[in-house]
Amino acid sequence: MEERKGFGSNFGFLMAAVGSAVGLGNIWGFPNKMGASGGFTFLLIYLVLAVCCGFIVMVGELALGRKTGQGAVGAYKVLSKKFSWMGWLGILSAFFILFFYCALGGYCIKYTVLNVGDLFNAGFGSNGLSGAEIFGNFMSNPAEAIIYGLIFVALTMIIVMGGIGGGIEKVCSIGMPCLFVALLICIIRACTLPGAVNGLKYMLIPGWAVANGVIDKAPNLFQVFATAGGQMFFSLSLGMGAMITYGSYLDRKENIQKNGLLIVVMDSMVAFMAALCVLPARFALDPEGSLGGPSLLFVTMQNVFSRMGTVGPIFGIIFYLLVVFAAISSSISLLEVIVAHFVDKARAEGKGDKRKSYTLIATAMVSLGCILVCADALGTSGISPADLLGIENPKTWAADWLDFWDCISEGIMMPLGALLMTFMVAYEIGTEFVKDEIEQCGNKFTMYKFYRFCIRYVTPLGLLLVLYGQIKSFFF
Ligand code: TRP
Repeated sequence: MEERKGFGSNFGFLMAAVGSAVGLGNIWGFPNKMGASGGFTFLLIYLVLAVCCGFIVMVGELALGRKTGQGAVGAYKVLSKKFSWMGWLGILSAFFILFFYCALGGYCIKYTVLNVGDLFNAGFGSNGLSGAEIFGNFMSNPAEAIIYGLIFVALTMIIVMGGIGGGIEKVCSIGMPCLFVALLICIIRACTLPGAVNGLKYMLIPGWAVANGVIDKAPNLFQVFATAGGQMFFSLSLGMGAMITYGSYLDRKENIQKNGLLIVVMDSMVAFMAALCVLPARFALDPEGSLGGPSLLFVTMQNVFSRMGTVGPIFGIIFYLLVVFAAISSSISLLEVIVAHFVDKARAEGKGDKRKSYTLIATAMVSLGCILVCADALGTSGISPADLLGIENPKTWAADWLDFWDCISEGIMMPLGALLMTFMVAYEIGTEFVKDEIEQCGNKFTMYKFYRFCIRYVTPLGLLLVLYGQIKSFFF
């Protein structure tokens, strides 16, 4: 059987894993949640959770993947009797997340093109319309959204078809450093705008948002905890086998403990940096603009660029391209979770590496979900889940297809997946198993005691609270 090809270098692996983690969640979710949930308090809770829950699950997933050398389904099958079905939960989550993630990725491509239009005063620019009008027009034209969504899906497909070393690693090794530089440029521009300092205050000073009427009332500590936990999970791509899959392609001589820590640190850093760019810009140039939801990225930020003067479109292009890339480096990891399983299976059955065909089939299915989400235009047209189920006054989960897939995957399946994974490691296969795998590289697992304590008690408790918080906020 030909060799299962993995990452060519540790740097390539790291960039791919950070690429998976850094995505829409960082650039879009983090800034507004941080501000609305008490700024600095939120950041502290976020960091504690990232270390006690995020890092623990991250290291576990990478180790399980590398130990078994298989994608999520294969890994769980080998490891556990009780939890053998969990890989399928991961594959299903990957599909659901891709449905809405690709639609949003398409929106970002649309906004890149829009700013190119503005740069050249072309007809496909904003034509003097406000951010709200542009977004409204875009939403009333689902065909356009579908085309952009499918372009995003196609880009994802092309990279995954190239395989790990030839596609994913190559793209991320070049793209992630570029993303970092682009983000720095945007931060410098945003923070030097007059009035930007209010964005920093909103972000960093506990209670500022309430005292200045930006939000009505401060959330309670439990709510902050749940918001931070949910955000951290999604942002680190945990709980559905993405890191198991990437771990399975990692060389045995590489250090999982160090890599896991670096992924968590870099992901949190990029989230914080994104906040340093988005919030000061919003407070400087669109102080009335929305701070959350789809309109933060597509109405408020577009207003910011329209009001920047002649250089506006240039910063618009840099910013939206950065977001498109962040989204693609995440969507490829989601598609890889699906593809890796079927490729492994075909190889095991001696049918050879059928990566291209499986990628094509998975992409076709993702396209259907993406079309559904785009056609529904955030609940403004078409048939929403609530219509279909005959629900009046629907809660978020049933209001539109984007929220529907988001609530099922991010709200339930991911925290549940991670919770069960910690149970499996702590109480079925044992933490020694993870320790042995991590020490393969010859270095000691110096954080082992901390790891064992967390995965037995702290992490499951944290995850349980996150799950409860998510269910409560999405469904009640
Ligand atoms: N982490 C990505 C973000 O912040 C989203 C993502 C990519 C993801 N791959 C994932 C989430 C796998 C969960 C599982 O936007």
